[in-house]
Amino acid sequence: MKNIISVKDLTAEDIRKIFLHSENINNISSKRFTKNQLKPKVTLFFKEPSTRTRGSFNEAARRLNFDRYEIIGEETTSLAKKESLADTVRMLGKENQNADILVMRMGIEGAPRFVAEIFAKDFQKTAVINAGDGTNQHPTQALLDFFTIASHFGKKNIPNLTIGFMGDLESSRVAHSNLELARLMGVKKIRLVSMPEAKIQPKYKDGFNEVIESGKIEALSDCDVIIALRVQAERITDKAKLAMIKGQFRITPQNINVFKKEAIIMHPLPNPKDFGEIDPCLYYYRIGPRVIAHQQSIMGIPVRMALLELLYKQTDATHFEKIKSGVELKKIREESAEECLKRQRNKSAKYYNPILGVGVIIDHLPKGEGIIVQKLFEQAVGKDILPILPIKGVNSTKYGMKDVVLMEGNCLALENQDFLATIALKYENITLHLIKDGMYKKFKLNPPAIVRKLLSCKNPDCVTNHEPEAITCFYNKFPELGIVECAYCEREFAAEDLKPI
Ligand code: NCD
Repeated sequence: MKNIISVKDLTAEDIRKIFLHSENINNISSKRFTKNQLKPKVTLFFKEPSTRTRGSFNEAARRLNFDRYEIIGEETTSLAKKESLADTVRMLGKENQNADILVMRMGIEGAPRFVAEIFAKDFQKTAVINAGDGTNQHPTQALLDFFTIASHFGKKNIPNLTIGFMGDLESSRVAHSNLELARLMGVKKIRLVSMPEAKIQPKYKDGFNEVIESGKIEALSDCDVIIALRVQAERITDKAKLAMIKGQFRITPQNINVFKKEAIIMHPLPNPKDFGEIDPCLYYYRIGPRVIAHQQSIMGIPVRMALLELLYKQTDATHFEKIKSGVELKKIREESAEECLKRQRNKSAKYYNPILGVGVIIDHLPKGEGIIVQKLFEQAVGKDILPILPIKGVNSTKYGMKDVVLMEGNCLALENQDFLATIALKYENITLHLIKDGMYKKFKLNPPAIVRKLLSCKNPDCVTNHEPEAITCFYNKFPELGIVECAYCEREFAAEDLKPI
């Protein structure tokens, strides 16, 4: 655990350690740094509004006797002068302005992961904590929420609780992080109440035994914990959609008794005064389900103290592992080039003839895709390197009309893993033909696990669409369904929809 970027990076053991540390954190001596010693430094870099998260990180650092440096708002750094985020954080890191830990909040999704990679590449020993990246993740909120739940019901009872979420589940990073943490902590029963326009993305529903989705607050009647979530008005550009979901779910004295008497009602706050999810008169309601939003926010301090302490104690820099696109070639035929040509002559496939020396043919591309593959290849190895010839609309006995791409003069197409992984992801039926040293070989491609570099992320808020040094990376999450996940903004996409950069 070198950074806290996303709940999906945490293990059950990490959570056990964080909770244990949070319980015991007040025993830490504030006099542990000697006079001449530089204290650990926490830099808080907040580009979005925050009261609780920023304040409790600040207070957590103060109680640990760490030094603090706050950068707040849009206009206070050179980002306002169009500097890249990478260059800005390089200045804040350990080797420059000496941050041991950078706590960051911004609207750009995947920015904390990108920043952690920049520190690792530059050998700067600065840990990164994600304090909220757009609609993606808010892992420290999830940790403090479950620490609160554990303090009410006991840690070991968490798997038996029924937990309900209510509000704007689509855009709430708290919903995303909390559902992933609930799954990791063994919760089995989940209720999800939202307007149809603000439903949770399917991936967050995976891994539970019982998920009930509804548009009615009554669906939360068997919950032990209700987590109310704010409509993320500042992120919703579609005015009609916003009007549709705003103020639809509000817990009031009139409806609070649909919940179990012993239930707790949580909210990460802010609870907007005009259309908030909880009527403030319930803050002091003591005869039924209890609103504990303010007590919950206090838990942010021990949990964040524990996180700061655990991360600063990591003495070595994050090792930057260069993730590579990976794809396997499966040989399905091998013969002499001469034999192959003889065989082809009997068929109508004339495009084989030009290749006598060395070359690669990409076959069985869907019609119209030849030109895209040409572009991908040019991006991978550079333009003007060799003649590439997309042949459009060839008749195939097996697949109907197809495109074929012919690359003469070398076999770079088979050597470039990023290119191979990209075409293997996008086109499941393709075959590759290699002619070299008088031999002919035919290959199929196994589905790649990771695809880097050549395809762009469809999320306009993804860090890969903002930072010149960012390189895209997709996990081929469900090859049978053709679904990939962006390694940075964590959104899922249909592989076939991804376009060349
Ligand atoms: C949340 C956030 O910023 O994501 N608040 C918080 O951190 N306490 C929830 C929200 O803004 O709705």
